[in-house]
Amino acid sequence: MSPSTTVRLSPSILAADFTRLGEQIAAAEAAGADAIHVDIMDGIFVPNISIGLPVVAAVRRATHLPLDVHLMIDRPERYLAEFAEAGASWLTVHVEGALHLHRTLTQIRALGARVGVTLNPATPPGALVEVLPLVDIVLVMTVNPGFGGQEFIESQLAKIAALRALIDGGGYQAALSADGGIGPENVAQVVAAGADTIVAGSAIFNEHESVAAAVAAMRGAMAAGAAQRAPVQ
Ligand code: DX5
Ligand code: ZN
Repeated sequence: MSPSTTVRLSPSILAADFTRLGEQIAAAEAAGADAIHVDIMDGIFVPNISIGLPVVAAVRRATHLPLDVHLMIDRPERYLAEFAEAGASWLTVHVEGALHLHRTLTQIRALGARVGVTLNPATPPGALVEVLPLVDIVLVMTVNPGFGGQEFIESQLAKIAALRALIDGGGYQAALSADGGIGPENVAQVVAAGADTIVAGSAIFNEHESVAAAVAAMRGAMAAGAAQRAPVQ
């Protein structure tokens, strides 16, 4: 990844005002978001319940952007076809929730969605070595999944850098995304460490500023982070 690589922004609607969801998604799209991140929580894999299939289908109708669906659910293989049918463009499953991960990732590919895999803060980067050839997107959780608005876990910067090295070193094309506790105050570090896709909820949908202003603030800090990246050898 070169310093000039464009960094993508995927706003998480978990922090949106659900009474105005269509409007908030339209604002994110108009502001130049690259995707819409949709957090699915089942109350089993994570200690929270968020939204499900009907909302994914509604979001699909509300935007032209890719839907970046993050499945925080136990045994996600049970619902892959339904989420693909509802309109998920990218389907990301947790290493920790998918017992037969290789099979699950292969199933996502067969459904025609982009294949994503993510790992909790306590899971080491090496857990992905065997599946990197199968994936389009690697998502590093920079908080423990389950809630928006949590504090960024600093130790995950080193994991992002390690995964950047694994992806580039192996010649893989997978995107490297980071999710949780990221805002204009720390996104430059996340990008400088090697992330090329940023998920942000609270920093984008908050009552203090417009979605457009929030996206602009993130974009400025993301560009600063890209400029800090080590040049490719
Ligand atoms: C956390 C979710 C995140 C969350 C990010 O479990 O996976 O996508 O919405 O929200 P912020 O940006 O508020 O940490
Ligand atoms: Zn998420």
